[in-house]
Amino acid sequence: MKIAILFGQFEGYDEQPNAESDAAKPKRKRKKKKTDVEAIADSLRELGHETTTFAIDGRPQTLVRLARSDADLFFNLIESYNGDDTMEMHFAAYLDLIGKRYTGSGPQGSYLAMDKSIAKTIVRYHGLFTPYSAVIDKGRVEHAQDIQFPVIVKPAAEDASKGIDAGSVVSSIKDLFERISYIHDEFDSPALIEEYIEGREIYAAVIGNDPPEALPLVELDLSQLPKGTPKIASYDVKFDESTDAYKKTKSAVARDLDEDVVAEIQRVAVTAVRALKLRDYARIDLRLGANNRVYLIEANPNPWLDPIAEFAMAAKESGLSYTEMIDRIVKAALARRK
Ligand SMILES: Nc1ncnc2c1ncn2[C@@H]1O[C@H](COP(=O)(O)OP(=O)(O)O)[C@@H](O)[C@H]1O
Ligand SMILES: [Mg+2]
Repeated sequence: MKIAILFGQFEGYDEQPNAESDAAKPKRKRKKKKTDVEAIADSLRELGHETTTFAIDGRPQTLVRLARSDADLFFNLIESYNGDDTMEMHFAAYLDLIGKRYTGSGPQGSYLAMDKSIAKTIVRYHGLFTPYSAVIDKGRVEHAQDIQFPVIVKPAAEDASKGIDAGSVVSSIKDLFERISYIHDEFDSPALIEEYIEGREIYAAVIGNDPPEALPLVELDLSQLPKGTPKIASYDVKFDESTDAYKKTKSAVARDLDEDVVAEIQRVAVTAVRALKLRDYARIDLRLGANNRVYLIEANPNPWLDPIAEFAMAAKESGLSYTEMIDRIVKAALARRK
C-alpha cells in the first residue's frame, strides 16, 4: 500500500535540529538521531508499504499537490498549520474534503479535545472527574464553578505546555488576576482556571477503535523538581534541555500502582476517548488525587509517536514493538468506515 507521512514544516521555525522531521513543535527529550518521521517511515517500509514523506508548509500550492497525491493512506502528524496550533482540526477537515484516508482523529475529535473547557464538560457528563474550573475571557466570566485555591491558570485551547510555567499555580486573588492578564495578552486566548490537583501525573495511551484499548500506564515523575516550584509538567520540563526542570524529571512505566487503580485509570481513558470522538490512537493526561481519585486533565488526539515518547513506552510495555504499534495504528485507520 502507498502511505505518505504528513509532517509540518514552516518558515520561522528553527528549533528542530533536523528539518526533515515534524517541525511543528519542539519535542521532549530528543537525544537519539532518528526523528518520529524517520522512525515511522522505517516501520512502514518494514511492513512492506511504499512510503514517502510529505511536508506541509502552509502554502496553498502544497494543499493542491496534496489533493493530487495518489497515496492510499496518509499518516497524519499535523498538529499545527503554519505555526498555528488551533488549525489541527482544519487540516483534518481538509483531508476529509479532498476524500483522503488518514490516521488519527478527525476534525470533530480534534476540536472537542482542543477546547479544554468543552472537553471537561463532556467528560463530566460521562461521569468522569476533572478539576473544577472557570473560564475568563477579557474580564467576562464565561463559566465558573465554585473553585478553591490553589488553582492553575492556562490558555483554554493550547497544548505543548504553552503558557505553563512556575507562575501558573497561584494561591491569591492578586496573582490570579495577574496570571489571567498574562494569558490574555500573551496567547490572545480565554484563560482556563482549574483547581490544582496535587498528586501523581499519569499518562494513559489508548490504541485502536473497536474497542479502544488502554495500554500500560506511564508516569512523569515530578518529585525531584526544585523545592518551591510547583510539581507540574511545565514548558521547561517538557522541552528546555538546558533547565534543571528538564533534567530532573523523567517518564517511566508506572509499575507500582494497585491493580484496581490501574483498571480505573484505563476505564477513564477509554471513556474519554469515546466521549471526545478520538480515533486510532490518543493519550489521556491524568492526575491521581487524594483517595486515588482519577482526574482527567487533558485529552491529546494524535500524540507524539517518537520512539522515546510516552505513547511508544506504553506500547512497548504491552509487548508491541515500535513497528507493531505503527501497524496497529494503520490497521485501525483502514478498518474505520471513514
Ligand atoms: N488542574 C491541574 N492540577 C494539577 N496539575 C495540572 C492541572 N492542569 C495542568 N496541570 C499540569 O500542567 C501540565 C500541562 O497541562 P495540560 O492541561 O496538559 O496542558 P498542555 O495541553 O499544554 O499539555 C500537566 O501535565 C500537569 O502537570
Ligand atoms: Mg498535556
